[in-house]
Amino acid sequence: MSTPTQDEPAFLRALSGETLSTPPIWMMRQAGRYLPEYRALRAKAGSFLSLCYNPEWAAEVTLQPIRRFGFDAAILFSDILVVPQALGQKLWFVEGEGPRLEPVADAVRLGEIDRQADVNVLAPVLETVRRVRASLPKVTAFIGFCGAPWTVATYMVAGRGTPDQGPAKQLFTRDPALFQQIIDRIVEASIDYLCAQIEAGVDAVQIFDSWAGSLGGEDFERWCVAPTRRIVEGVRARQPQARIIGFPRGAGRSIPRYVAATGVDAVGLETDIDRSFARAEIQSLVPVQGNLDPLILRAGGPELEREVAAVRAAFGDGPFVFNLGHGILPDTPIAHVERLLAAVRA
Ligand code: CP3
Repeated sequence: MSTPTQDEPAFLRALSGETLSTPPIWMMRQAGRYLPEYRALRAKAGSFLSLCYNPEWAAEVTLQPIRRFGFDAAILFSDILVVPQALGQKLWFVEGEGPRLEPVADAVRLGEIDRQADVNVLAPVLETVRRVRASLPKVTAFIGFCGAPWTVATYMVAGRGTPDQGPAKQLFTRDPALFQQIIDRIVEASIDYLCAQIEAGVDAVQIFDSWAGSLGGEDFERWCVAPTRRIVEGVRARQPQARIIGFPRGAGRSIPRYVAATGVDAVGLETDIDRSFARAEIQSLVPVQGNLDPLILRAGGPELEREVAAVRAAFGDGPFVFNLGHGILPDTPIAHVERLLAAVRA
């Protein structure tokens, strides 16, 4: 006898709170440079952004890790920084370094950006979603995403990645009203963007707050929790069934508070979190996703088998999605990913 939920992809059953004997698995940055087929298409596209904005290629890249490994979920191939680009900020990627944007440091610049805002920039990404949806196996769930306002703002303000998020912190200290305006723009654009992804066919969305760990106390409440809650509420107002995963990387002991205050359905756990704390204080609230160390996956060997077992022992008897604690490293051998899948599905 099959119950209705058994027709659902395992990933979605776990997100709904089911404990599965074999946890569903996908990997952050699973579509990317560790795959030769990605590197080939990336070379043909010429640049990362041309790949992101070409629906045929972006759909192909999204599907590559599904074909090769049969992960339980596909994640849309795009980037969190397409949102500031749609808001009117110039964006480019420097080979071997990372993203660059024209920094927003004052109200004049924010005004200029506003005048250039154009939601049509994201139309090709939504076309990618429709294409992937049409060719994804029924057992495979499909995840859309955006960056959390705090993390996106750190790039918008500094114009690049920063080790300590100093420029954004300086701005919210010096001019909190201006910083709030930047956050508000991102919140509104992200609600529209996530709803559009859901309408185009994703099953769940993840909000990446890669730099949540650099905020403490009141700053964490104001710049991480509050804007994320507004996105969750804004998306649910239009899409009541939306499934939303939060990933406040580095938030550690503040994660229970984040979960309760934002209303996310599930939460991603970083590598460094105390697993017994996470099991007792977080997995008791919502399904969790994580948290194998990407360095251990890259290293492979018996240590990899041991760590996979440790992650499963910590979270496997509750609702759980196996993942890494952060993105897969580009120099990770394919064979180690194969070993990982075999170990998780054994
Ligand atoms: O496979 C997937 O996970 C889906 C696609 C995806 C990418 N970026 C593709 C990408 C997703 C979900 C992201 C999220 C993202 N992008 C985050 C949040 C998650 C995290 O890793 O903390 C952040 C902070 C960014 C911004 C960004 N994009 C940076 C800092 C960089 C440079 C560093 C790097 O890894 O190269 C990127 C580039 C990027 N985004 C690449 C990919 C595949 C590499 C581009 C290339 O081919 O050169």
